Amino acid sequence: MTRVSRGDLDVLLAHTSQGLVATEDRCPHMSAPLSVGRLDGCLIDCPLHIARFDLCTGEPVILPTTGGLDADGDYHPIWAPPTSTPKPEPTDLKAQARAATRIRRMRYLPLRVRDGTIEIAFPQPGAGDQRRVAEA
Ligand code: FES
Repeated sequence: MTRVSRGDLDVLLAHTSQGLVATEDRCPHMSAPLSVGRLDGCLIDCPLHIARFDLCTGEPVILPTTGGLDADGDYHPIWAPPTSTPKPEPTDLKAQARAATRIRRMRYLPLRVRDGTIEIAFPQPGAGDQRRVAEA
């Protein structure tokens, strides 16, 4: 996998076990770059709060350790190991912000492989959305 940047958009280009995908290179939780995470098949681990996402479905597999809201707005508590008692939820402003942070849905960009070159359609207004970004 690699990061490709055009303007202010950073894209994660990943070769998953089910093919190539292009998505924003921002964790759907708090925007850490997924391109520095670990890819195993379709599963990518975010290095910041250890969430795991399925790049082939767009769904979270393991939620962030910080807790917070999933994409449907359901609250998930701070992670605790199964053998320990969960810590009480802190109530300071930082904790309130974490608890109200929602995991967004992954946003994919269309791509194709043509003549050995991967082309990603960047969402830019005006002429020529198709940009050649990497050699396959
Ligand atoms: S930024 Fe990725 S899990 Fe929090």
